[in-house]
Amino acid sequence: MEQVIPLRKKRIAFLASGRGSNFQAVIDAIASGEIPGIGVGLITDNPRAYAIERAEHGGIPVRVIDYADFASKAAYEEALLAAMRDFQADLFVLAGYMRILGSDIVREFSGRMINIHPALLPAFPGLHAQRQAIEYGVKVAGCTVHLVDDGTDTGPIVIQRCVPVLEDDDETALAERILAEEHRALPLAVKLFCEDRLIVEGRRVRIRP
Ligand code: GRF
Repeated sequence: MEQVIPLRKKRIAFLASGRGSNFQAVIDAIASGEIPGIGVGLITDNPRAYAIERAEHGGIPVRVIDYADFASKAAYEEALLAAMRDFQADLFVLAGYMRILGSDIVREFSGRMINIHPALLPAFPGLHAQRQAIEYGVKVAGCTVHLVDDGTDTGPIVIQRCVPVLEDDDETALAERILAEEHRALPLAVKLFCEDRLIVEGRRVRIRP
């Protein structure tokens, strides 16, 4: 008889700067058993982030590393890197983390750090992606989960989901429609990672059936 070896549950840590609805979507999927992982911690650069309350409610340890407490970006990044190491995570999820990570951090966690971006990359990287999409006049928008590399929103793409841009959309209406898809895409990407189903071949990420 074939022996089934159960997966070791992956340790998942999060970085978030604000509302934390994507963070919530992932911890809900962990709690329901959909993702074979354990949420081991949340790091935030913003002491007022609503994500903190969500973490406390979900029993996930929080580390606040307030950017304002540091004299330089280098000092902040050093503290951030130390906190990230402390969690001993298999995967880091950037769930609305609003700063660009320095190259030391990107290098150390390469291949095990993912980000969610509210556009169909490579279109509209950076800030205000939904506004960029409206202003450009595209008819289809969406979200992308990608591995983090040294660029801004440039890493290999794991999952994309699209939505239509409707005639009367403004930035808020489009952002809301995209957000609903983000809440599907991010937990799915985390699940695939935790099931060892992502195979990275250069820029392409293949998903093992
Ligand atoms: C999301 O739109 C995400 O794609 C972007 O920042 C927003 C964060 O929203 N990176 P939330 O904090 O997850 O609610």
